[in-house]
Amino acid sequence: MSPRKLSVVVTAGPTYEHVDPVRFLGNESSGRMGFEIARAAQAAGHRVTLVAGPVHQETPEGVKRVDVVSARDMLAAVEGTLDHADALFMAAAVADWRPRRKLRGKWRKKDDGSDVAILELTRNPDILATVAKKLRRRAERRCLIVGFALETGSGIARARSKMQRKGTDYIVLNDETALGGDRTSVTVLGREGDELRLENRTKKSVARSLVGLLRDLK
Ligand code: CTP
Repeated sequence: MSPRKLSVVVTAGPTYEHVDPVRFLGNESSGRMGFEIARAAQAAGHRVTLVAGPVHQETPEGVKRVDVVSARDMLAAVEGTLDHADALFMAAAVADWRPRRKLRGKWRKKDDGSDVAILELTRNPDILATVAKKLRRRAERRCLIVGFALETGSGIARARSKMQRKGTDYIVLNDETALGGDRTSVTVLGREGDELRLENRTKKSVARSLVGLLRDLK
């Protein structure tokens, strides 16, 4: 257990980007990894805020949960926690794109008889990059920033460049086998070139190892 009680912010789950009131673009993230990190951080004695996209997961006891829907909601919720945050675990599977307009009524494209429809998308904010930049400017105290990268194939080089680009202390690299299941294999990449492989572990066990990174804040 870390000697001090830290303020830990965790994001989890997908974001939903609505096309109209009843349809959205989403993804397969179950939120499991983020919820396990929140649970493990709380069990280690920390104060935890969990910003969750639309998921079916029980809120871990003692954790403050903030439910959001879209990437922009998630950005606002995370920004609202920044003043006190000592660590951010950005486990959410944030949608990179959203429909350029959310229609007020149902999308009626098929009514014009065409077989092809084009949905115009616009880029979502990069929450991790935006928040990391703000946190680096914060002079009073350091915030440990942990990002995640889901890559198909080996992906280590891409994950490392993501770490640079987004300004995180660590990137947790996983692949599509992590989606939904109870077990996962991840590689934790650090800024100093360090690499920790956690093979075929439960998400609970990976979460405990990730919470162990808080020792950097001692
Ligand atoms: N992330 C974020 N905001 C986004 C997209 C991603 O904060 N709009 C965060 C994720 O929560 C994760 C990390 O950035 O911690 C990497 O996400 P990933 O989707 O793998 O990376 P991208 O930058 O979107 O790159 P690509 O999809 O091209 O691999």
